[in-house]
Amino acid sequence: VAAKEATRTAPWGGKKAKEKRARTTTSALEAQYSRLEVLNMKSLKSLHLMLRDRRTPHAQFKHFADRLMRILAEEALATCAMEYATVWTPTGAEYSGMVPTNNVCAVSIIRAGDALLDAVLHCVPSIAVGKILIQRNENTIEKSPILFYSKLPPRIAGYGRVLLVDPMLATGGSAKLAIQTLINAGVEEQNIIFAIVVCCPQGIHAVFEEFPHIKIITSALDPDLNEYKYIVPGLGDYGDRYYNTL
Ligand code: URA
Repeated sequence: VAAKEATRTAPWGGKKAKEKRARTTTSALEAQYSRLEVLNMKSLKSLHLMLRDRRTPHAQFKHFADRLMRILAEEALATCAMEYATVWTPTGAEYSGMVPTNNVCAVSIIRAGDALLDAVLHCVPSIAVGKILIQRNENTIEKSPILFYSKLPPRIAGYGRVLLVDPMLATGGSAKLAIQTLINAGVEEQNIIFAIVVCCPQGIHAVFEEFPHIKIITSALDPDLNEYKYIVPGLGDYGDRYYNTL
């Protein structure tokens, strides 16, 4: 029902046109940036539909968001794995795979990033955690982001990978400041993996123009940003919908 209503009321074309536009945006950007990975599992499609439906009430939004973020967290952590290994199974046969790395720490951008951090913590309960608080400067016309607080794991530069988490990448302003904060702490750009639930081309270009060596892994790449700097079609304010503060 939700899908049908969304199609009927879509102001910018039917379902096929929208799907084609989304595929074009994704493949064009993935071709431009080899360090961009847009996940494409079937499970994500239905979870995204529920998240994007404006009628989804808070409890359900949180439920579906948690399920989706778990998938994203697992994929992002798998991206951090650096070594192959072979084990013997109980059947006496060999099995080869990747070794989960414990040389990774996670850093969230407060507040929405904390929801995605929880998903990472479910997967790796003892992962070292850092926090960054960035807010817009409401006293300037540009409303440029300001770093208010950061508490990073000690010796963060020694981790093989630093997993930065924030659910929405819109203009890229906060993301760039967060990445710069990690780099100022000694983290090498190519060791940063940035996990995002929904992003848009504007944010992707902004981040990769300044930091071409980071890795971005996202569960959705939407086509646009509106005049209020919300991702379109997007899902509204992720933090407000997740933490029930609408
Ligand atoms: N942050 C959000 O929560 N939603 C957007 O669409 C953009 C930034």
